[in-house]
Amino acid sequence: MSIKVNENYKNLAQNYLFKTIAEKVSAYTQANPDKKIIRLGIGDVTLPLTPSVIEAMHKAVDEMGHQETFKGYGSEAGYDFAIDAVRNHYEKSGVILKKNEVFISDGAKSDCGNITDIFGDNEILIPDPVYPVYLDSNVMCGRKVQFIAANQENGFLPLPDAIEKKSYIIYICSPNNPTGAVYNKEQLKQWVDFANESESVIIFDSAYEAFIHGDYPHSIFEIEGSRTCAIEICSLSKTAGFTGTRMGWTIVPEELVCSGTALNPMWNRRQSTKFNGTAYIIQRGGQAALSEEGFKECQENIAYYMENAKLIASALDEKGIWYTGGISSPYIWLKCPNNMSSWEFFDYLLNELQIVGTPGCGFGPQGEGYFRLTSFGSREATLEAIERMKKGL
Ligand SMILES: Cc1ncc(COP(=O)(O)O)c(C=O)c1O
Repeated sequence: MSIKVNENYKNLAQNYLFKTIAEKVSAYTQANPDKKIIRLGIGDVTLPLTPSVIEAMHKAVDEMGHQETFKGYGSEAGYDFAIDAVRNHYEKSGVILKKNEVFISDGAKSDCGNITDIFGDNEILIPDPVYPVYLDSNVMCGRKVQFIAANQENGFLPLPDAIEKKSYIIYICSPNNPTGAVYNKEQLKQWVDFANESESVIIFDSAYEAFIHGDYPHSIFEIEGSRTCAIEICSLSKTAGFTGTRMGWTIVPEELVCSGTALNPMWNRRQSTKFNGTAYIIQRGGQAALSEEGFKECQENIAYYMENAKLIASALDEKGIWYTGGISSPYIWLKCPNNMSSWEFFDYLLNELQIVGTPGCGFGPQGEGYFRLTSFGSREATLEAIERMKKGL
């Protein structure tokens, strides 16, 4: 007799996408140590934290070093100052949140995975292609997942019109990783109406909201009716360069009730039991990032990345390669030239041009034949990459 393991893990795709990429790149660099690789693959930022954030965190470190200002455990849901900073940020989009509806976390990935804890065995709707964590975290707990196809025909923005009306957990990522597609108000309203009518719950991932350019909702809570059907997960990772610093939040409105049970106290209970809060120093940094001055600095960094996106787009234009995104998101989603598969194009870019991107098929079956490039590189690396693409594609 031995210990039973979670057999659902056997149903996960063999390798996490980025692990396979890392292995391929490592094999290439070992075989070609003299070649300079440019990474436009993993969605990690490269610009450092901004001055406001650094100043706030330095101050917080000093506080931790003095008896009178030292902090031990904080509230699991976050310090009031961080919660209020998030609430103020939402107020700019006209969204009013109560204190107890905001839960500060160590980032969106944890919350995207952990949120499955408060739901039973429901059917799951996941856009295809999308950030792979939604799928894998549901596969890990044995949930039945259906894909909603996002493709060129629907502008990578699937709508609920053809979906059977029953209760689902519906994941929506807008702006979308990897396609960069953003829902407008009317389209999101269709999802909210569908969710309310079918007693579904939307899990809305707004990790890239700060990149939105134009009149698109930054939060699902800008949409009428959303407070009875949606949870929102967001992060400072891309907004403020917090990928290595770690702060995000989840919003669970008081009105969200499923099968007679309010989800807000459930999420509170889940977090209080399994999470001991985000570090005080980090929450001070997050508060600074969301302050008026701090957010302006973040927007300057985002503008830098978006200039990179424009440069990449202009190289693709020159080569006649179809792409989308790069306007309200740091990602450019392109169709692999010459009918190459995603991995064929990955190998071509790595072996011939020494550029690393991300194969579209890693984000779902509909991503096959597509490819993601990111604007998170340095200007210098981006310029060099586009020179190589202009010559070699
Ligand atoms: C759509 C989406 N959600 C969530 C995350 C995770 O963000 P965090 O760094 O806050 O865990 C990412 C990271 O790439 C993402 O692309």
